[in-house]
Amino acid sequence: MDLAGARVLVTGASSGIGAATAEAMARRGARLALAGRDAARLAGVAERTGGRALPGDLTADAADLAARAGPVDVLVANAGEGWSGPLTVMPDGTLERLVAVNLTAPMRLTRLLLPAMAERGRGHLVYVASIAGALGVREEAVYAATKAGLLAFAESLRYEARGVGVTVVLPGVVDTPFFERRGRPYTRSRPAPVPPERVAAAVVAAVERGRAEVYVPGWLRVPARLRGAAPGTFRALARRFGRP
Ligand SMILES: NC(=O)c1ccc[n+]([C@@H]2O[C@H](COP(=O)([O-])OP(=O)(O)OC[C@H]3O[C@@H](n4cnc5c(N)ncnc54)[C@H](OP(=O)(O)O)[C@@H]3O)[C@@H](O)[C@H]2O)c1
Repeated sequence: MDLAGARVLVTGASSGIGAATAEAMARRGARLALAGRDAARLAGVAERTGGRALPGDLTADAADLAARAGPVDVLVANAGEGWSGPLTVMPDGTLERLVAVNLTAPMRLTRLLLPAMAERGRGHLVYVASIAGALGVREEAVYAATKAGLLAFAESLRYEARGVGVTVVLPGVVDTPFFERRGRPYTRSRPAPVPPERVAAAVVAAVERGRAEVYVPGWLRVPARLRGAAPGTFRALARRFGRP
């Protein structure tokens, strides 16, 4: 899809990958609707990109957001939250919140926006998932499950979303406030975090070229393929080299 003049809704546009994606889309001439909770940060992104700020909690009312956004050619379902630690000590309510933000909200928004896209024969759905959803990650069971759900949702939707592109983006470690917010900073030196602008560039390229699946960085497709082809070997390596 040519992004010049395309109407693009980015969720989680107030920070990190979403803000960088909004800026990259604006440079292509897209008309932006920007969703996020932090009204001040969202207003800053709107000013930089010429977009419309649509502040609000995604989990409260996706229908209201879809109505305020108006016609949408490209949905970038990016908003998300993490939590890290053993499942047995996860605080009450966290599990439900992660499922609501990371999985239910993108599915609801899709349900609301897809009919008009299909009718116009023009549309693209982008889901910012995570490599966690393809591999599973120690002490991130709920987060990984929400992202795996998103991958399966997108894979299935491809069969019915005729004329509408579907992309899943699987970032590894990205340098954003995500880790501070989830309550456990990223302290490993490898893999090195990539800048959010790199994920944003991958999102733009995926929409323009109609790509189904994008790993950022690209080498992450290797463990994902190994996990699919030889799960026993993958698990042995993950136990040996994964986060202790
Ligand atoms: N950073 C990484 O290493 C990494 C790796 C793989 C995948 N991802 C995924 O990339 C996406 C973006 O994350 P990020 O790294 O850019 O993190 P971030 O900087 O923390 O941004 C998260 C965004 O999601 C929004 N959000 C969270 N809960 C929301 C809610 N209930 N309603 C509306 N908006 C909500 C936040 O809005 P406010 O700031 O306004 O609250 C913020 O704009 C997430 O889906 C994340 O799972 C990140």
